Amino acid sequence: MNYQQILNEIKSELSSIHYTGKVASYIPELAKIKPDKFGMHLHCINSGHYNFGDHIERFSIQSISKVFALTMAMSLLDDELFKRVDVEPSGDPFNSLVQLEYENGIPRNPFINAGALVISDILISLLKEPKKDFLNFIHEITGNTDIDINPKVFLSEKSYSYRNAALLNLMKSFGNIKNDIETVLDFYIYQCSIAMSCKELSTAFMIYANGGKRLFDNEQILSSRKVKRINAIMQTCGFYDEAGEFSYRVGLPGKSGVGGGIVAVHPGQYAVAVWSPPLNPKGNSELGMHALERLTTLTGLSIF
Ligand code: DON
Repeated sequence: MNYQQILNEIKSELSSIHYTGKVASYIPELAKIKPDKFGMHLHCINSGHYNFGDHIERFSIQSISKVFALTMAMSLLDDELFKRVDVEPSGDPFNSLVQLEYENGIPRNPFINAGALVISDILISLLKEPKKDFLNFIHEITGNTDIDINPKVFLSEKSYSYRNAALLNLMKSFGNIKNDIETVLDFYIYQCSIAMSCKELSTAFMIYANGGKRLFDNEQILSSRKVKRINAIMQTCGFYDEAGEFSYRVGLPGKSGVGGGIVAVHPGQYAVAVWSPPLNPKGNSELGMHALERLTTLTGLSIF
């Protein structure tokens, strides 16, 4: 299969598409990103790398970091983790508070903000140096030790984090947050402010496509049982109240972020990352979803 030709076709098809999405502005620093940035990087297990556009420019990974956080928490804890966070799709926006009130402070899944905040709380309790350890984990799975946070994005989100603070306060009132609220918020915002490129994200997500092994040296990072579970949670919860739509149109487990990135995996075949900042009303990259839909259609490779 000529993957580069398929990617070129996706780029030219989508360059002329009229999109209505808006760059995220509730984190002021993200509003400064040029809306016409567009890049894609496909990393195939058996046949290497294919890409186009802004695929080596770093951007804010935001909620994509929730997959790395869940992976670290699942490496440290087994099933007891899921006493504090469930694995059901929420059908609600990523930052919604409503279900927490009648579900006793137990978030529906680890990829909505409430669930990711519980995961942050767990990592703070278990890790010696949570920020350093988190960054080290990303260095370990990418082999790239200069990946870091964007300090401007970090400070920008810190000054506008009223909703995440509300989620934390509500969950703490139910006893599901053990550490100090400011400490959890600080660590959560730190992980969201990490900057990576499509190329780096496709390498990082290779562990989920490759049965838990890094592709570059075959080192087992995570058991295949845990990989299966994480991929299942990405499939059912990775796109919030648009998880069904993403499954239906693209047919891959994946995760989005409000920085405009989406990463998806085809277990046994490839990991792919796409970046286009304008978001649809559900907070997912509008062009990114189109690009991935075209990829699985043109290659005939989705998990369904
Ligand atoms: O907590 C927030 O609102 C952001 N740091 C992350 C949200 C996000 O990326 C949602 N994804 N599509």
